[in-house]
Parts: sequence; structure tokens; C-alpha cells
Amino acid sequence: MATKKTENPDDQQGCPLSRRDFLKTSAVAAGATLATGCAGAPKSQTGPAVAASRKTPDTLRVGVIGTGGRGTGAAIDCVDSSPGVEIVALGDLFADRLDECRKRLADLGDKVKVTDDRCFAGFDAWQGVLSCDVDMVILAAPPAFRPLHLKGAIDAGKHVFMEKPVAVDPVGVRSVIASSEAAATKGLAIVAGTQRRHQPGYVETMKRIHDGAIGEVVAGQCYWNQGALWVKPKRPEWSDMEWQCRNWLYFTWLSGDHIVEQHVHNIDIINWAMKSPPVKAVGMGGRQVRTGPEYGNVYDHFSVEFEYPNGARVLSMCRQIEGSSHRVGERLVGTKGVADPSGTIQGEHPYKHEPQGEPVNPYVQEHTDLIASIRSGRPLNEGRRIAESTLTAIMGRMSAYTGRELSWNWALNASELDLTPPKFDMGDLPVAPVPMPGQTKLV
Ligand SMILES: NC(=O)c1ccc[n+]([C@@H]2O[C@H](COP(=O)([O-])OP(=O)(O)OC[C@H]3O[C@@H](n4cnc5c(N)ncnc54)[C@H](O)[C@@H]3O)[C@@H](O)[C@H]2O)c1
Repeated sequence: MATKKTENPDDQQGCPLSRRDFLKTSAVAAGATLATGCAGAPKSQTGPAVAASRKTPDTLRVGVIGTGGRGTGAAIDCVDSSPGVEIVALGDLFADRLDECRKRLADLGDKVKVTDDRCFAGFDAWQGVLSCDVDMVILAAPPAFRPLHLKGAIDAGKHVFMEKPVAVDPVGVRSVIASSEAAATKGLAIVAGTQRRHQPGYVETMKRIHDGAIGEVVAGQCYWNQGALWVKPKRPEWSDMEWQCRNWLYFTWLSGDHIVEQHVHNIDIINWAMKSPPVKAVGMGGRQVRTGPEYGNVYDHFSVEFEYPNGARVLSMCRQIEGSSHRVGERLVGTKGVADPSGTIQGEHPYKHEPQGEPVNPYVQEHTDLIASIRSGRPLNEGRRIAESTLTAIMGRMSAYTGRELSWNWALNASELDLTPPKFDMGDLPVAPVPMPGQTKLV
């Protein structure tokens, strides 16, 4: 099966070391206390002490964990967003992804101070990055690793920018909520990569929705319908684990499936409008086109109805099928009007968002807001709400996979679903079966 579309640069080029050699090098870098400011295992710091000793540094030193397409993009956005930001350490599971990232970051000149001994590869690369003298980390590995990486970062007293989604199962969501609460105690900032929350059209329209411009919201729709994404054909030298991690989109344990990985953006907008996660979900979905083994065990379409505390029902629909029509967005129906929350209201209080001044890039703005909050001593903390939006999407997936209607309280407090594999090493890892409604057990 040929690679279809590539969101990220080809990651196979230009690595000066074999992966095995690089891991040896990384282990040395991670283990040694060097003049580089990296000190091996991360130091855990207590909340009040961290908060009390925290000064706003003139230069914010940033590490990146997960240096693929978005990790690299977020590092560039972070540097572009504010003065006095330097990228100083990088970590990734694979050396070739690190290498590619370093090449792209070279364009940033002296804002990048990454040396060989501040590059870490392997499953414990995150510990190497945290052992460097960084003030903030960008977490952009596949979602399965976010709860672990976030906990590590907060324990080590670092501010965080973390990509969405932030978990793949309810156990991971509960960990993220706990880490977010710990961050609040320690005075640490957490901003999530739900850039629509930092996009003026959405921000202004949502203010009006919350002020009653469309009355009570009684229904809604949200969509992420698109074509196919990239696939990396399996190479003979790749173990099961390597193949799955390099094709993480197609394994539920890694990505959460596309309703979680991608559609969480639109679901997050609905939760924002409703000022609450839903109370119930009932969904369906399947795997109609992407049926080959290269597509792991995920579905290619979902449709879910979420019910909110006021009784409003919201249809969520997502699809990744080549040749199908494209629709990405949200719609809210109120007693006094209808809104496209990205910038338009029709009804008793019509509104059309008109951009003011320079165009705002929301991918940059989220870092501007994060860094301003750190420097002002009033750290933003978006941890709980992105955990809730992630769980909303997970709940939709669990309902579709099992054929069962689910309640929020059960998913948040009682579900024991934990998709973590038995061990993290580059060895055998059978692909979990494709879920079958009516047969797949609700856990
Ligand atoms: N906000 C947005 O609009 C947006 C856009 C794209 C991606 N994302 C999110 O960003 C994250 C990364 O997506 P991407 O497109 O960059 O994927 P990618 O495959 O390009 O990058 C992921 C990187 O993580 C590395 N990795 C895998 N396991 C790791 C581990 N245990 N420790 C460290 N690194 C590890 C991979 O080798 C790879 O380099 C995902 O959560 C995705 O949903 C967000």
C-alpha cells in the first residue's frame, strides 16, 4: 500500500546515526550530568516550593517531546509567538524524527540551542528532555503518551503546551485531570493545542452565545468529515511496536481513533458553547473502506448523539474516507437564533466577525497567550477542560465500539478502560481486534 497523503515530512532521510547507535548516545546524554544543563533523571519538585522559587525568566527555555510534524510546528510557533524564547532540548521515540526536526528548526537561527547531548531518543526520551534545564515543554507525541508525559512535566515543575487529544482512555483522562490539579497548586501553566479557543472569530462569537445572542442552545451539530491520511508501509526491519508507533493514527491504543484524535476539536467547541460536557452519548460507526491490515484496528466513520445537561442533543459526525465530501465545523441552534461559532450568528441578534488589524494565526496565538500568562504570574490552565473534551470523544468512541449508550458519570468515574500495552519495547505486539458492536465488552 503506497503512502497516500503525508501531513508530515518524510522521516526516513538524513539521520547520521543508526537508531541503535543513537539510543546509546542518548542514554549517555540522559545519564550524565553535563555542562549542558541536563542532569539525567528529572527531579521531582513539590508544589509550593516550585511556585515560591519560580521567577519569570527573561529567556524561556523550551524542550520538545515528540518532534514530528506538530511538535516541530509547535516549536516554531512558540518561538515566533513571543520574544525571549529558545528551544533547547528535543526528545522523540525515533532518531530519524529528531534529525528531521533539528533540520527544520535550523531556520530559526540562534533561537535554537539544541546540541547533540540535549537530544534524546527512545521510550524514555521524555525523561532526558525534562532533565535539561527547561522552563517549559511542548508535548506532541501520540496521545497515548500524553498522560505519562504531562505527569512527568508537572512533577518536574515545568510549564506545558500539550497537543490534543490528551488521552485515549478514561484512566488516562483521570491522570490528566490529576496532573492539571497539581499544576494549579504549583502555579504551572498548561495550554492545550485546541487552537480554536485562541482564534478571535470563535472567541468573539462564543462570548455572544454565552451572553444569550441565540437564546438557550437546544441543539447542535459538529463535523470532521475528510478524505484519507498518510500510511507508512511496514518495513521488514520494523518490529510490531515500531510499525504501530510509526503508524500511530491507525491503532486505538495510540491515537484513540479519529473521533478522538481529530474530531475532538469540534467536540471541544460544543462543550465550550454548552459550558459543560454531555451527560450521555449514543453512537455508531464502522470500518467500511479502510479494511486492510495497514489500517490497524480503527474505524473510518462515526456518528454520535451527545445529550447535554439542559436536554439539548448534538449530532457529531466524523469520517476519514477518500473520495467523500469534506465538512469540518460546528453549528448551534438556539431559541433565538443559529450560530456558526467560528464567526456568524443569525436570528434576533445577528453578528458577523470582522477581523481587526493583523491576521491572527491561532497556532501562534495559543503560545502568545500561554507565555504571557507565565510571565504575568497568572498561568493559564486548560488541563481539565481538554481532558473533558477528550473524554467526551472517547465516550462517543466507546459507545460506537460496544453498541451501548453511556453516561458521563460512568465514563469519568467508573470505566476502567486502560489501553496501555503490557510493555514498551520494540518487540511483538499483536494488533487488537477491530471492535464489534454488541460483542466488544464495555470496560
Ligand atoms: N492542533 C492541531 O491542529 C494538530 C494538528 C496535527 C496534529 N496534532 C496532534 O499532535 C500530536 C502529534 O501529531 P503529529 O501530526 O505531529 O504526528 P507525527 O507522527 O508527525 O509526530 C509524532 C511524533 O511523536 C513521536 N513519538 C511516538 N511515540 C513517542 C514517545 N513515546 N515519546 C516521544 N515521542 C514519540 C513520533 O516518532 C513522531 O515523531 C497528536 O496528538 C495530534 O493529534 C494537532
